[in-house]
Amino acid sequence: MKTEELKEIAEKLVAGEKNAALTGAGVSTESGIPDFRSHGGLWEKYDPMEYATIDAFRRDPEKVWVMIKDMNALLEDAEPNPAHTGLARLEELGVLAGIVTQNIDNLHQEGGSKNVIEFHGNGRRLVCLKCNAAQDAEKARANWDKEFPPRCPECGYILKPDVVFFGEPIPPQASARAMELAQGVSVLLVVGTSATVAPASYIPMVARKTGAAIVEINIENTVLSEGFADYTLLGKAGETLPILIEAVEAVLDKKGGLT
Ligand code: OAD
Repeated sequence: MKTEELKEIAEKLVAGEKNAALTGAGVSTESGIPDFRSHGGLWEKYDPMEYATIDAFRRDPEKVWVMIKDMNALLEDAEPNPAHTGLARLEELGVLAGIVTQNIDNLHQEGGSKNVIEFHGNGRRLVCLKCNAAQDAEKARANWDKEFPPRCPECGYILKPDVVFFGEPIPPQASARAMELAQGVSVLLVVGTSATVAPASYIPMVARKTGAAIVEINIENTVLSEGFADYTLLGKAGETLPILIEAVEAVLDKKGGLT
């Protein structure tokens, strides 16, 4: 990582009227949750067509719950890492207006971020596709040895995590808030995502169209790196963000605005 580049990004963040971040599974790998498409990722173990489409869930929810239970075991003990707390610090410093996350693990909120838009829902809630009743996933988990998969307390139908499966729409409120946040940002940080899944992948385009500088943080190059991102910082998000924060703090310090 070049110091000059970091300084430039930090200056843009501090000067920006509004900055935002788009995050993906790569921000949580350092918390022990594998991503989807890397070597060892979830889609290597489970074919998304068989396990992650809404049609697959409706056809055979018991089968899909095997994957959900597997994921839950990883999510249960996961703690926020310096990528999550780093993004929260940027918000606290007043240089990040909000995060659009594709993650369903709640770790941004646990890491201290306030304005988090959950584009793909949150795995801590379960919903009933039949009567719309909601249940806390934790409560259902505590009862797994008696009832698995968990059933709706109201109508007895098998519950579904309140996350977006392939073939389901993005929750309208999250979609509207994300597009509003992305428009007119000065800097969009794109952290730990392959940026290949639509419509989340449109967010960098929306931001770019309205003049944003795109700053990508990833352990490898992505579809954005060549000819789209203004900066690609190669490295782990949990190591890169703390370095970027130091650079931001140095700029703020110079301006006398460090809090
Ligand atoms: P992917 O698995 O597609 O991409 C994860 C990205 O994170 C890759 O580009 C990795 O190189 C990068 N990465 C991994 N560890 C990292 C680290 N420590 N620091 C920085 N980068 C790291 O996951 P997403 O882009 O989040 O949707 O996938 C988007 C959506 O596809 C998910 O929300 C999920 C999935 O199918 C649904 O299930 C609807």
